[in-house]
Amino acid sequence: MLVVASANGRVGIREAMRVLREGGSALDAVETGCRLVESNPDDHSVGYSGIPNLLGVVELDASIMDGKTLAAGAVGAVKNFEHPISIARKVMEELPHVFLVGEGAERFAREAGFEEKDLLTPEAEEIRRRLLEGKGLGIYAERLKYLERIREFANLATDPERALGTVNFIARDREGNLAVGVSTSGWACKYPGRLGDSPVIGAGNYADNRYGAAACTGRGEMAIRKCTAYSAVMYMRMGASVEEAGRRAMEDLKDLVDPYAGAMSLICVDAQGNHAAFSNREGSRYVFMTDEMDEPEERPRILVT
Ligand code: GLY
Repeated sequence: MLVVASANGRVGIREAMRVLREGGSALDAVETGCRLVESNPDDHSVGYSGIPNLLGVVELDASIMDGKTLAAGAVGAVKNFEHPISIARKVMEELPHVFLVGEGAERFAREAGFEEKDLLTPEAEEIRRRLLEGKGLGIYAERLKYLERIREFANLATDPERALGTVNFIARDREGNLAVGVSTSGWACKYPGRLGDSPVIGAGNYADNRYGAAACTGRGEMAIRKCTAYSAVMYMRMGASVEEAGRRAMEDLKDLVDPYAGAMSLICVDAQGNHAAFSNREGSRYVFMTDEMDEPEERPRILVT
């Protein structure tokens, strides 16, 4: 049994492993892990206390995929619900749909019994204020001239230290089933309604028991354009090792002309439970835990520049 996560998944990885040890499924484990990150007030890139959009509203995206059945669920631009990963799972399990966004996703969450909560914290609002003031964008934002200033703003907002983040979990349970969960509040100060790769199946997340699973963090616009998570799994299907598959999926991003030179990171697990992680930024790390380990271990990601 195995759980692999982006480094900010450290707060949830022990519980995710506990779920697997107690006989839970890979889906249960990734949902549990993501929920703990979504509730972490110190993580401003996921869930409660996520940095809001340009207008000061927290909008959350999440997706989940079952590698056994290839079932998937996703929600995007969800306001006032702390656990989009659980709403995504309900979409997968209870609706004949894969993807709900905005008011429809919120309506479904209410019908499914999820509690509403104000997600904006003073810390996250302060970060938004500083980001906007940092480029003198505040006045433009108020006048909704965002599009005119998007290039300058996006350079700021793609600084991974300040503006990006997402959590990835991949689990492999005792039956060898794979699942992947991804949750995010998206780009800091994003344009309202913007969706990144996290809720897009194949871009930010993919799992297929036969070959492997993959999930992304970073500049979602790039992962959407190259179907990065699906590519990594497809390379494994074509016979590549987990290291080779992830590296090739990352190298594919080089085809993109991207004026914002965005940070991108990827975690991958193959069907046997071998894992590897990648980033185009130095210093990026990931975390993993097997059922034989007492504590999770953090490792550097393979650098693919
Ligand atoms: N990877 C998260 C996002 O772009 O929203």
